[in-house]
Amino acid sequence: MKKVHVETWGCQMNVADSEKMLSLLHGMDYALTENESEADLFLLNTCHIREKAKHKVLSRLGVLRDLKEKRPGVQIAVAGCVAQAEGAKLLKAAPQIDILLGPGKIEELPDLLSRSTGNGSAVMALGFNKPGEEKKRAHGQDVVPPTLTGKNEVTRFVNITQGCNNFCTFCIVPFTRGREISRKPDEILDECRLLLANGASEIMLLGQNVNSYGLDLLDSRKLSAGEDGPFVELLRQVVTLPGLKRLRFTTSNPHDFTQPLAQLFADDSRMGKYMHLPVQSGNDHVLEVMRRKVTVAEYRERIRWLRDAVPDMAISTDLIVGFPGETEAEFEDTLKLVEEVQYSFIFAFKYSPRKGTAAARMPGQISEAVMDERLARLNALQDSITMRQAEADCGTIQNVLFLYRSKKNPGVFYGRTEHFRLVKVESSGQLVGDCLPVLITGGNKTALIGIVVGDPEHQGSNHEHETGDSVQH
Ligand code: 5AD
Ligand code: SF4
Repeated sequence: MKKVHVETWGCQMNVADSEKMLSLLHGMDYALTENESEADLFLLNTCHIREKAKHKVLSRLGVLRDLKEKRPGVQIAVAGCVAQAEGAKLLKAAPQIDILLGPGKIEELPDLLSRSTGNGSAVMALGFNKPGEEKKRAHGQDVVPPTLTGKNEVTRFVNITQGCNNFCTFCIVPFTRGREISRKPDEILDECRLLLANGASEIMLLGQNVNSYGLDLLDSRKLSAGEDGPFVELLRQVVTLPGLKRLRFTTSNPHDFTQPLAQLFADDSRMGKYMHLPVQSGNDHVLEVMRRKVTVAEYRERIRWLRDAVPDMAISTDLIVGFPGETEAEFEDTLKLVEEVQYSFIFAFKYSPRKGTAAARMPGQISEAVMDERLARLNALQDSITMRQAEADCGTIQNVLFLYRSKKNPGVFYGRTEHFRLVKVESSGQLVGDCLPVLITGGNKTALIGIVVGDPEHQGSNHEHETGDSVQH
């Protein structure tokens, strides 16, 4: 049996794609290894969203070139968005690559592997399939894709759309993942049923813009205001599947976010009380130049829909600082929005120009020093908000879905509250997969600490959160 070492950068979509590739490789008699020295195949699933992500891939390829010189039989496959965006250029810079595979062609991995000679001439599959053109995937009806690390078997990812039609001016995704294509509801439901029957408790539906799911399947029918729409219809079906304890989805786009979706959170507790709604900026002019297609007032309205439905709804967001031309006053509008919404957490990024996107050609590119300073102020503001929320959570009882146990200390378990706060609990029992009431006794901005209520086996502890275990988003 051969061994594959999988390295995944970037978003959850990439994690899901790596799991799919792993299931294809299992079918070819490859086993996953975490030990580099025994790997026959290195599979790098890459991210191109910011320049820093691309640099990490290039420096890793340098290390693998040296390794391949010592062990000539080793094969290197580069998949993901860097493979798609850079294509032949990447092969010039890194001739040690044997296989190049775009995110739209994952099912061609076995074919490429059987064609690859491993002696310097790369084989590749790039580009995108048209709807219905893709070959049947290995994770289809009857195969459960393995998890990548075996760490969290409770949460399983299910792709509902591929690609994006939005062309926000900063974003490379429509170029690396192509136009939006929705999977058929029956196919999605079958995959969810299969995962739930095989031990999953939480399903995470994935797409670049999940809110526009199914609009491409509607033919010419236009949705009327207040109508559920295909995404909400899909959620209503998935949420009632037997065995499901929690349903999540990402990424949402405020432009396609509807009031019936907000209402769904009030209708079914398995939806949790948390949602990620990227805004990118708190200033109308910046949003317009980003081509986000919503104003700050419209974004606020969506937040209001959510909090009218569920008053204690937790919300997180993505923000970009230093978009071309962003003034100090425009940046301060972002600070004001963060203060006003009281997010649970934020993902804040320095703008990174991506070749081929409209924003990369815009005047007024902002210096690194100014971006650093803005990013630090934004993160400091959010840290103070998150800390206040952690203090307010102390003494409350929260429903926690336990996701995984510490690798270093098997008596330590990690789970998420309905508000998606990470909780650490000590127990001599087996909590993974259970949804249990937990009394919160302490915490910081990374995680809360608690005691499982009413079970003598589940002993609590009060000591500070250790940062030794990596936590999962
Ligand atoms: N520069 C910085 N951040 C970016 N993002 C997407 N493209 C860029 C870019 N060019 C961020 C956005 C998006 C998240 C996934 O990554 O905030 O929501
Ligand atoms: Fe990129 Fe915008 Fe599409 Fe999100 S919605 S993937 S930010 S183009």
